[in-house]
Amino acid sequence: MTPTREQAWETLTRHTKGEALLRHALAVEAAVRWYARHFAENEERWAVVAVLHDFDYEIHPTLDQHPQDGAPILREEGYPEDVIEAVLSHAEHLSMPRDSLLKKTLFACDELSGFVVACGYVRPDGIETLEPKSVRKKLKQPSFAAGVHRDEVSRGAEELGLELDEHVANVIEALRPIAGQLGLRTA
Ligand SMILES: [Fe+2]
Ligand SMILES: [Fe+2]
Repeated sequence: MTPTREQAWETLTRHTKGEALLRHALAVEAAVRWYARHFAENEERWAVVAVLHDFDYEIHPTLDQHPQDGAPILREEGYPEDVIEAVLSHAEHLSMPRDSLLKKTLFACDELSGFVVACGYVRPDGIETLEPKSVRKKLKQPSFAAGVHRDEVSRGAEELGLELDEHVANVIEALRPIAGQLGLRTA
């Protein structure tokens, strides 16, 4: 089966009701799609993985279950092994090699997209005029969006072979078109 983004969204929304988690999926999807276009990769396939990556988080909210216990559900629903493997690879505690551009991109966009959105929530125009340097400043304030793992943000950019500022700028650009959907103020 070649999964479509529509199927992935259906799987996600069957298991996930919380708005924050749905917005997280949309944000990561937008960032991963941006990179799929940038690298001339299979955008639909990458979107499927991004949409699904936390699909089981609401039913498996702890790391002894998420995302590994989601894998059998995805298998049951007919998702191919490469999609399941990419979904699993975003979890640091599973120590899976990020040996593809898709895996590196998903990891690099996961924490950062949430952080960029958090930066936008405290600005009058959302992420409309947000620049990497103010994101970098916020990254240095441990109390701001404290749940975001700073080390994963920098490692993500590094593994993609990008300067942090460059990666941040790309993610901001990717998220701007869906700012309204993410609950951000738009100009
Ligand atoms: Fe996750
Ligand atoms: Fe995530």
